[in-house]
Amino acid sequence: MRIPLIAGNWKMNNNVCESLSLVNNLIQLSGNFNNDVEVLVCAPFTALYSLSKLLSGSNIKLGAQNMHYEEKGAFTGEISPLMLKEIGVEYAIIGHSERRQYFNETDESVNKKLKSSFKFGIKPILCIGETLEQRENKIEKTTVENQIINAFKDIKAEDAGKVVIAYEPIWAIGTGKTATSKEANEMAGFIRNVFKKLYNEELSSQVIVLYGGSVKGESASELMNQNDIDGALVGGASLNAEEFIRIINFNQQYKKGNKEIL
Ligand code: PGA
Repeated sequence: MRIPLIAGNWKMNNNVCESLSLVNNLIQLSGNFNNDVEVLVCAPFTALYSLSKLLSGSNIKLGAQNMHYEEKGAFTGEISPLMLKEIGVEYAIIGHSERRQYFNETDESVNKKLKSSFKFGIKPILCIGETLEQRENKIEKTTVENQIINAFKDIKAEDAGKVVIAYEPIWAIGTGKTATSKEANEMAGFIRNVFKKLYNEELSSQVIVLYGGSVKGESASELMNQNDIDGALVGGASLNAEEFIRIINFNQQYKKGNKEIL
């Protein structure tokens, strides 16, 4: 059974104090969370240690937004998977389009990072997705297929099964333009098919596929109720506790005391 995952990607937002305050708000309201979903926040490196302490014993998981593939060495400015592991970080986003676009991440570095995440026991959230131009030229599926084939080069089925894939069309990230639920579901289904070709039917039906790109409380329910979509990678809307909780509770009304939030 695929357990839905709602993951917040804070990007370069929230200093330590702001991070603690946002997560404290989430913890206070977490009694009202939809119990059927896994909740994750991917915070800036500087806040991870403090957040890890705050989150221990809670039902909210912690992730990083990037990691290097080596365990240690002369890589100025980088953070290794072991360093993340040491402080209780469970997940890492890998190959986010902003990293590919602004920090020269390539399919090769993404492949190395995936392999490293398996080696060191970090759960990877692999981001893939096409640009607007690629979609307009009708090569969005080939683009996504190639990203998957390259990312999973020389990765065995037993490891591939641990990946969370986030389909994030670049034209929908931070633009307020969400893919329609039909577009998002079609691509999620296509991703499963590619996985089936690369591995097998079982893996393709088990892999968790998220949608990301301007997900908000009001759009979450329709997106999450699509057959092939198992959750969301949420940027802007994860910076506000109540909005994030609306997404977490995509399938239910929930109440805090007498105050109806959704
Ligand atoms: P957004 O970001 O929700 O602000 O569009 C999503 C992401 O980049 O992961």
